[in-house]
Amino acid sequence: MPDMRATSLDGRAVADAIAERVSARVAALPRPPKLVFVRVGEDPASASYVRSKQRLARRVGVEAETLVLPEETDQATLMASVVAVVEDEGVDGVLVQLPLPAHLDEAPVLEAIDPDKDVDGFHAVNVGRLWSGLPGLVPCTPLGLEAICDHYGITLQGQRVVIVGRSNLVGKPAAALFLRRHATVTLAHSRTRDLGDVVREADVVVAAVGRAGIVQGAMVKPGAAVLDVGMSRVDGKIVGDVAPDVWDVAGAVTPMPGGTGLVTVAMVVQNTVSAAERRIAAAR
Ligand code: GUN
Repeated sequence: MPDMRATSLDGRAVADAIAERVSARVAALPRPPKLVFVRVGEDPASASYVRSKQRLARRVGVEAETLVLPEETDQATLMASVVAVVEDEGVDGVLVQLPLPAHLDEAPVLEAIDPDKDVDGFHAVNVGRLWSGLPGLVPCTPLGLEAICDHYGITLQGQRVVIVGRSNLVGKPAAALFLRRHATVTLAHSRTRDLGDVVREADVVVAAVGRAGIVQGAMVKPGAAVLDVGMSRVDGKIVGDVAPDVWDVAGAVTPMPGGTGLVTVAMVVQNTVSAAERRIAAAR
């Protein structure tokens, strides 16, 4: 069945389109936006993510710096460092790369970020704004999923969206975002009973558990769109939450790599420009 393979939803194409729109917004500002990353320790994956976010920021004219703190940094030192960055009037966006080393507590660090500089959208104020329908900064991966659907003309209004995974980073904010787009949203997870029966209802599936191949071809309705946010290393290879046989059933699938991750990176930069626009307008 060679003509049955799903369309590949190319994250690079979506990210490039976003970068182009964001560049034009930067050019219209009286000064460049400034984004500061805070990273603790030397986890190679985290270092690589921050590098790619910083590279795209600079490409579109956003000033980007990274503060790297040593692995053994204690909570008080991290808090003081984040607060100093947040209080810097010249900084529009602050992003603390997660996960932090195990001895550090993430929650107070995320709450120390000014919600209007919180380009990750993880602060409780931004979570509340998102669920209340108020303007605010929205987490980047869910924004990216929405952008992929819009770029490829995947309808959301009235459609059934099943999200597998209930993290604060992806599953929960994606549910709020797709609800805002008038989808009928189901938030499933690794302990959902009869997961296949639930996923099979979906016109759009979001796979965001972080377990390789948790979404299988037999669980997917023919023609559905499947967005893969998972990332695991299996035998040295990077794989997603979507099993290879999904490509024989679905209508469209994000590849891994080359899919949702690239769009997440673009959304960090978009959020920074949104934050800068608001701060510049408020200062007038
Ligand atoms: N680690 C994995 N994804 C993310 C993200 O979206 N933001 C931050 N800050 N850390 C992450």
